Amino acid sequence: MFITFEGIDGSGKSTQARLLAEHLRASGHAVVLTREPGGSPGAEEIRRLVLEGDPDRWSAETEILLFTAARRDHLERVIEPALRAGKIVISDRFADSTRMYQGVSRGDLRGVVDKLHALMIGREPDLTFVIDMDPDLGLARARGRNGTEERFEDFGADLQRKMRAGFLALAAEFPDRCRVIDGNRPAEIVAAEVAAVADGALS
Ligand code: ADP
Ligand code: TYD
Repeated sequence: MFITFEGIDGSGKSTQARLLAEHLRASGHAVVLTREPGGSPGAEEIRRLVLEGDPDRWSAETEILLFTAARRDHLERVIEPALRAGKIVISDRFADSTRMYQGVSRGDLRGVVDKLHALMIGREPDLTFVIDMDPDLGLARARGRNGTEERFEDFGADLQRKMRAGFLALAAEFPDRCRVIDGNRPAEIVAAEVAAVADGALS
């Protein structure tokens, strides 16, 4: 089973992906916990190119190519081998992030994102948790981490609001695989709901 976590920056995806991996491992499953952009050595190199530096460093079109190149490497070298070996793969972000960030943040490029996805990736997760979160709280949490990967956080609160609405619309577009989870609650409460949904999907 291929499980992804999506949502705005600071919504708690990394925390929930880690807690779900721990929960499933404790139940005896073999789990690969990974992330995007990155997740394989080549894709981690691309991660540095896309997440660091000036917000205007790349055009939206170039970004689509870079994120898709990173995803293709991650898929070939990490995700597909693990799924073939019968493991559960949990990825902190996947193609829905490109649909949102490159597809709607700077003009309407969703059609380009979808074509490139069909051509080069062609796989959807079995289950996607969309962690919903107040945009201002998410931004405050993300900025609280104080890292160097701030290219997208520099786009600010308006983008966070647009992304939040976009992720909710995306969940409605793919109702079979998406579950919206309220992230404005203590991490353990959120994790219990996520674990219950995943257990249900696995049984
Ligand atoms: P994301 O991966 O979506 O950016 P993180 O899991 O890295 O989010 O969480 C961002 C910050 O918020 C971290 O400092 C984390 O410890 C904190 N955090 C995560 N989940 C919660 C929660 N449910 N309540 C309060 N703080 C949280
Ligand atoms: P991530 O490390 O998950 O950041 P956060 O923990 O703050 O949510 O992702 C870094 C940034 O990369 C995030 O702002 C979203 C962006 N991103 C895209 O723009 N397109 C993509 O395809 C992916 C996977 C991420």
